[in-house]
Amino acid sequence: MTLTDEELRLISDLVRAKCGINLTAQKRNLVIARLQQELRAGGFGSFREYYEYVLQDPTGRALLRLVDRISTNHTFFFREKEHLDFFKNTVLPQICRTITQKGGREIRVWSAGCASGEEPYSLAMVLSDYFGDDLRNFDVGILATDISVTALEKAKAGIYSKEEIVRVPPLYRQRYFVPLTDGRWAVREELRQLVLFRRLNLIRSDYPFKGRFHAIFCRNVMIYFDPLTQRALLQRFHKYTEPGGYLFVGHAEAIDRSLGLWRFVNPSVYQKVCGLGE
Ligand SMILES: C[S@@+](CC[C@H](N)C(=O)[O-])C[C@H]1O[C@@H](n2cnc3c(N)ncnc32)[C@H](O)[C@@H]1O
Repeated sequence: MTLTDEELRLISDLVRAKCGINLTAQKRNLVIARLQQELRAGGFGSFREYYEYVLQDPTGRALLRLVDRISTNHTFFFREKEHLDFFKNTVLPQICRTITQKGGREIRVWSAGCASGEEPYSLAMVLSDYFGDDLRNFDVGILATDISVTALEKAKAGIYSKEEIVRVPPLYRQRYFVPLTDGRWAVREELRQLVLFRRLNLIRSDYPFKGRFHAIFCRNVMIYFDPLTQRALLQRFHKYTEPGGYLFVGHAEAIDRSLGLWRFVNPSVYQKVCGLGE
């Protein structure tokens, strides 16, 4: 089915307005490939007809499916492992020192754009390994959010194929996964308990959080947003980060340091710059 320039513009505008994803003209083939099945399944004669249906669907489900189709959920366990090493060797000792000095116990990490769960579960493995038996002395929580309902369903199920867990170090596989009879692997309950999955649209103007995070991982997500959306997101992340807390972005992403909110500490790792009084 052909996608006219006007149809591409309408769909792109809708997607940008609803989830910030910036579909440039070069993404024409992506839009066709990802939406064709929706058009066929719904018996729509054109992209325009499909677009009108999405706009008018009172349940909002058609829009959720559109966003699900358009968003790229590609991820894998221990992606950009240098980040996880830096988190374990530099960030965690620092967080522990700070909260112990303050007499606190809570450690909060956010995987923003967690896709099907590989990132937050990788973080949970690192945290569990780092603390060992001491884990019970701390209150460790990982919030994992995404806009894609389908990705979140898979994440919550915590079941992965043999191929999907190849990058999990063998010791961690043994410790944190249970083999199922069908050849797949399930994340152990103890690890699942560290992660809370929620649907959250990152482009909303504010987030429903009471507390702040010691570290935010938002990797390979901002790359899909335009510069203005990225700037606004960096400001919101700053607001929800503890003083001295960290932001991890994808290796292919650079953050706008002219905002003066984040200080570079390591490739694609930034530390919150605190204002007076924080
Ligand atoms: C390529 S995946 C990255 C997954 C993981 N962070 C990683 O680095 O492997 C990008 C994720 O961002 C999510 N995403 C895109 N736009 C979003 C938005 N406006 N709010 C929340 N999540 C969004 C997508 O659904 C997708 O799961």
